[in-house]
Order: sequence, then structure tokens, then C-alpha cells
Amino acid sequence: MRKNLNKRSQEIFASIWSNLRDASLDRKHPWRYIQLSTVNHDQALARTVVVRKINEESRCIECHTDYRSPKIQQIKKNPKVLFLAFNSISKVQISCFAEATIHYQNHLTKSRWLDNHRNNQLTYANRYAPGSQLSNYAQLQDNTLSIEEFEPESAYLNFAVIESKVHLIDYLSLENPKHLRAQFRYVDNEWTSYWLAP
Ligand SMILES: Cc1cc2nc3c(=O)[nH]c(=O)nc-3n(C[C@H](O)[C@H](O)[C@H](O)COP(=O)(O)O)c2cc1C
Repeated sequence: MRKNLNKRSQEIFASIWSNLRDASLDRKHPWRYIQLSTVNHDQALARTVVVRKINEESRCIECHTDYRSPKIQQIKKNPKVLFLAFNSISKVQISCFAEATIHYQNHLTKSRWLDNHRNNQLTYANRYAPGSQLSNYAQLQDNTLSIEEFEPESAYLNFAVIESKVHLIDYLSLENPKHLRAQFRYVDNEWTSYWLAP
């Protein structure tokens, strides 16, 4: 991957990707749970997802979801997404603008599914689609299958991977006495950067 960055920008850029990678490996990392925004017609939406895999070379952030969840149709209609992460200890915020691809029933989903822990797979066996309105509280109780009822093949039909290719990163670090803000933009096969007023 080509980069046209000065020394300071290069350090920041490297720290962004190494922190994202750490978040994908470490359940306790502050960026482990990231906000994924989509657009539904003229309405912005956001929800928390787990950072599952990071590939700096291909600029990809990967997360997993239930194929029945509304975000799937939103992304199919408009693949422009945004990931927002904030570390309350280091006071660093990143916004990653990306183009998402839905993977469903292919080699990638198969491999990720097999890597998933059984308890995690179980969440894809829920009876009702995420966001569907239930008629009573008993239905909510009934939503989750027991491990005895669990059928991996049926649950796998609800499993999807969202792979998002990042083309712009907005970085903000609240530092004393001066805050630091930079953008990294992927244009013509290389990353370039510039400073912004915070
Ligand atoms: C801590 C936390 C982690 C979550 N991780 C995921 C996740 O990895 N994938 C996912 O689809 N939903 C995850 N959710 C649920 C979503 O935030 C959201 O409620 C759900 O996916 C339905 O979203 P949608 O209706 O916008 O499609 C998580 C929620 C919380 C609170």
C-alpha cells in the first residue's frame, strides 16, 4: 500500500490501524465496540458492533451480523457507511468513512462461522429477526434457542459478514494544551493526509 505521509502523520496513521487491529483481538480494547452508521432513505442510523477483523493492506474493517437485521437492506441500498470509535482513556476519536460489502453464504462467511464460538453462533439461531415487533413478553423469552435445540446449519443461514473498505479517516486527539486533528484520504491508490482545525 502506497503512502504519501510525513513523519508525524505516518505515526498517527500507524497507531490508528494498530489500535483497530488490537480491538479485533482484545475484548477489553476501548475500540472493541464500535459505532456503525448507515443511511436509511433520509434518516441516519447508528448501532454498536464488534470489530471482528482488520486488514490494513486492503483497508477493511469486518463485523458480523444477522442477515435478517435491517442494516443489511440499508447497506444493500446504500453501501456508504461510517465507523466511529472513541477511546476515553487516550481521548482519541476516529471516524472511518467506508464502502460496505455484504458477504452471505460464501467462502468468507463459512470460514468466519467456523471460527465463531458456539455461544456466538447461538445468537444467530434466534427465532425472530432483529428489530421485528413482538406481540408479547413471552415471545421475547421464547426468542433464544437452548443449546439442545440449536441447529448450526439453520443458524448459519442467518449469518452475514459486513466488510467495509475505508477511504477516509478523520482523526481527533484531545491533547493539552492543543488538540490535534488530521484526515487521511485514499486517492489514486495512495493515502495522503492533511491537518484540520480541531
Ligand atoms: C455491546 C454490543 C455489541 C454488539 N455487537 C453487535 C455486532 O457485532 N453485530 C451486530 O449486528 N449487532 C451487534 N449489536 C447489536 C446492535 O447494536 C443492533 O442493536 C442490532 O444489530 C440491530 O441493528 P439494526 O436494527 O440497525 O440492524 C451489539 C450491541 C451491543 C450493545
